[in-house]
Amino acid sequence: MNSPVIQGINLNAPSYVKNARLIAWVADMVALTKPDAIYWCDGSEQEYQRLCQQLVDAGTFKRLNPAKRPNSFLACSDPSDVARVEDRTYICSELKENAGPTNNWMAPADMRALLQTGKDGEKALFDGCMKGRTMYVVPFSMGPLGSHIAHIGIELSDSPYVAVNQRIMTRMGKAVYDVLGVNGAFVPCVHTVGAPLHAGQADVKWPCNKTKYIVHYPETREIWSYGSGYGGNALLGKKCFALRIASNMGRDQGWLAEHMLILGVTNPLGKKYHVAAAFPSACGKTNFSMLVPPEAGFAGWKVTTIGDDIAWVKPHADGKMYAINPEAGYFGVAPGTNMHTNPNCMRSLDKNVIFTNVALTDDGDVWWEGMEKDGGGLPNHLIDWQGKDWTPAIAKETGAKAAHPNSRFTVAATNNPALDPEWDNPNGVAIDAFIFGGRRSTTVPLVTEARTWMEGVYMAATMGSETTAAAVGQMGVVRRDPFAMLPFCGYNMSDYFQHWLDMEHKLEETGHTLPKIFCVNWFRKGDDGKFVWPGYGDNMRVLKWIIDRVEGTAAGTPTGFGIAPAYAEINWTGLDFSQAQFDSVTSLDKGAWAQEFALHSELFTQLAYHLPKELVAIKAQFEKSLTR
Ligand code: OXD
Ligand code: MN
Repeated sequence: MNSPVIQGINLNAPSYVKNARLIAWVADMVALTKPDAIYWCDGSEQEYQRLCQQLVDAGTFKRLNPAKRPNSFLACSDPSDVARVEDRTYICSELKENAGPTNNWMAPADMRALLQTGKDGEKALFDGCMKGRTMYVVPFSMGPLGSHIAHIGIELSDSPYVAVNQRIMTRMGKAVYDVLGVNGAFVPCVHTVGAPLHAGQADVKWPCNKTKYIVHYPETREIWSYGSGYGGNALLGKKCFALRIASNMGRDQGWLAEHMLILGVTNPLGKKYHVAAAFPSACGKTNFSMLVPPEAGFAGWKVTTIGDDIAWVKPHADGKMYAINPEAGYFGVAPGTNMHTNPNCMRSLDKNVIFTNVALTDDGDVWWEGMEKDGGGLPNHLIDWQGKDWTPAIAKETGAKAAHPNSRFTVAATNNPALDPEWDNPNGVAIDAFIFGGRRSTTVPLVTEARTWMEGVYMAATMGSETTAAAVGQMGVVRRDPFAMLPFCGYNMSDYFQHWLDMEHKLEETGHTLPKIFCVNWFRKGDDGKFVWPGYGDNMRVLKWIIDRVEGTAAGTPTGFGIAPAYAEINWTGLDFSQAQFDSVTSLDKGAWAQEFALHSELFTQLAYHLPKELVAIKAQFEKSLTR
């Protein structure tokens, strides 16, 4: 394949890149974005080391003390570029109704004028946006290479930070081109920090732009991201591809792209189950996926991780639903992670990690809020994520956090001591149960099981959660977050509900074994404002009840909101948790539920277009049994 010269740049496509559509697209993007150079990533270890050193030399990375954290780096972002920007995220479908009322929308032609072609003498944002920078061509597979459930993407980015993070987060490198071949399909993803460099101009440590656009064209399956270097806006395989674009693919092709962890749970007899669980951002998916069962009472139980954030789930001819984790690494929230909340995660972070926006210790290691609980107390001095001095006294006086509340680690799944042996299985794992959970200090009980698939879809569709630091905006306000997919569903939410409802009929044709659906809430608070449920490893007690229900060994108690455990059905060995405490996390308060249903009604009014009638009927049933 020859490599054309575009505006003085030889595309220099390596000989193993044989996909003509790819080469033509790269040429077009070079002509538009006008980088100074182009670099085709091969995904090798040497390349990773070289790019990391380049980031150290540029001041973006600080190499951590190799004696404490071998081969690990700290990046501190621009203070304005720390989270996903939902109000700048667009689904540009041809018809506004197909993006639905929960997504920002602009007509594709208008968005293309703004980003690509320019209009009325206005220069397009991507025109010349990579000047003075190198364009990295990053080939990646979402899912095991060559898996029938996997899909390929190519990200063009002017950020070496993106290139090295993508190597951890995806199966990135040369081998992707073998799968892609001459005619294979890929999702084109273009990313720029939106900070062209003019001759002689010095670069900053974290280039980005005040103007940000995170844009998806669902019909043509394209992603264009402008102005941010933050993971969720810039690592385009993750939220943009694996959720927003993939949810469209799933709708068209009969599968599901979900904001779910996947875990394996093995009982003392060696029988293994698989569970996929959806929680909103920063609500403990990573912790749950790496759960260590309590020592007392759970001898022989084991939890293993398949994925911590995203699941692609396909119904199979055998009547089961099989899930893969499309990612290959974890981009997890650091604060709160410690040896109590997630020992497997702490062990994963020993080496080969990229940290973003955590604090730096005086001996060249990292620190974040929550680590003080690991025995060392608060450090005397740190450099905080913004490069300022931090001491316990300053923190007390100003409330300053050493690490940003949405600071992150990027680490390969293979670092995880609890990694499931099947995590890379191209066929995925058969799902026995889906779990949905929001962050609710009141109203929603600890655990309940939907009696039918449809009831489960209703519970997931109406889920509410208190907002967290994972997205820019006010924290702690309850918003509806259907299926924990509010910021990630790439099409009309009501059509997405219908797609979930349709799964039941699809699987019926195969003599199905539909997974059971459960709803959980770890976050109920008492009158003292403290969490009542201990959470973390103790969530195993709820998980075991869920497995007992799958096995048919726990009877459960019918309630107005599904089937709940009786106190005696939970294994309490090693935990002092009274019936009264249990009642306080499982009670269904009529007044609170009346208010809750008013919020469900508001959601249904917002989603009235194409809202499945079945959900309205289920609402009436639940309302009758819960508020009378
Ligand atoms: C994430 C998120 O980064 O959900 O996983 O925000
Ligand atoms: Mn997430």
